[in-house]
Amino acid sequence: MTDPIIRFDNVTYHYPGTEEPALRDIDLEIMPGEYVAILGLNGAGKTTLGLCVNGVVPTMLGGTLEGSVTVGGLDVGEYPVREMAKIVGMVFDNPEFQMSQLSAAEEVALGLENAGIAYEDMVRIIPETLELVGLKGFEERSPLGLSGGQQQRLAIAAVLAMKPQILIMDEPTSNLDPIGKQEVFSIAGKLNKEAGMTVVVIEHEVEVMAKFADRVIVIDHGRIVMNGAPEEILSRVKELGALGLRAPEAAVLADDLRARGLWTGPTPTTTAPAVEQVRTMIGAARG
Ligand SMILES: Nc1ncnc2c1ncn2[C@@H]1O[C@H](COP(=O)(O)OP(=O)(O)OP(=O)(O)O)[C@@H](O)[C@H]1O
Ligand SMILES: [Mg+2]
Repeated sequence: MTDPIIRFDNVTYHYPGTEEPALRDIDLEIMPGEYVAILGLNGAGKTTLGLCVNGVVPTMLGGTLEGSVTVGGLDVGEYPVREMAKIVGMVFDNPEFQMSQLSAAEEVALGLENAGIAYEDMVRIIPETLELVGLKGFEERSPLGLSGGQQQRLAIAAVLAMKPQILIMDEPTSNLDPIGKQEVFSIAGKLNKEAGMTVVVIEHEVEVMAKFADRVIVIDHGRIVMNGAPEEILSRVKELGALGLRAPEAAVLADDLRARGLWTGPTPTTTAPAVEQVRTMIGAARG
């Protein structure tokens, strides 16, 4: 049996000088190769959870962490963040702020240099990684001249160059247009499906989640309140609503029709099966 790649064992975490814990009694196991989406309101604890996985909490931010977080079998509290970066790559919501270099190649080189990778390896890794995220031949381009979606893919390339086993994305597309969003999610989907990378995405877009994730975790006030397959979690329209969260449009529509006695069978979480069933219903109504 495979061991989980990420494991939270009864974790409660307080930021320095705070009364209320940012995370409470978190028990969580994520298996290698899973694509997990995390949903929750502002301030729920999503980013904090991600920062526990790369060890920034508690190693850099301090505070008190009760329980344990192990990643790839290592206790994150005991390893420098720089070491954890070889296992866990994290990208954030604002790609522009993650760019500090004059060229795309230098952006990717930065982490490699810090990790002490030899120059002759870097000249091989950089173009390989750029190609992986669909930025082949972009070596000399200025990061600031790229589109938002391209910048975010460059940020992903910079973490992928370190060959992490886990990619965490914290609202990676919140500042992107629809095309940029699609670009980022399809890259993450490809890395997950083709390279078996473990992906954890913090995300508000439930439609996207329903399409890509193997599992959805809902966090509320620092606690995990739902944890299961997207079809199971995202169809719980009323419970999500009570937490201030939105279910996919397809699920909301089906729920509405069910209340009027017009919908039978499972609640869809993606558009295609909902459209299919509505078509059948219209066909039947026409006789
Ligand atoms: N550096 C910090 N010091 C003290 N408290 C913090 C710090 N960072 C976050 N918090 C608090 O911890 C709790 C969880 O915050 P966190 O940023 O993890 O939430 P989030 O779910 O990522 O929210 P958002 O959707 O706004 O990004 C909040 O109450 C927040 O105010
Ligand atoms: Mg956050």
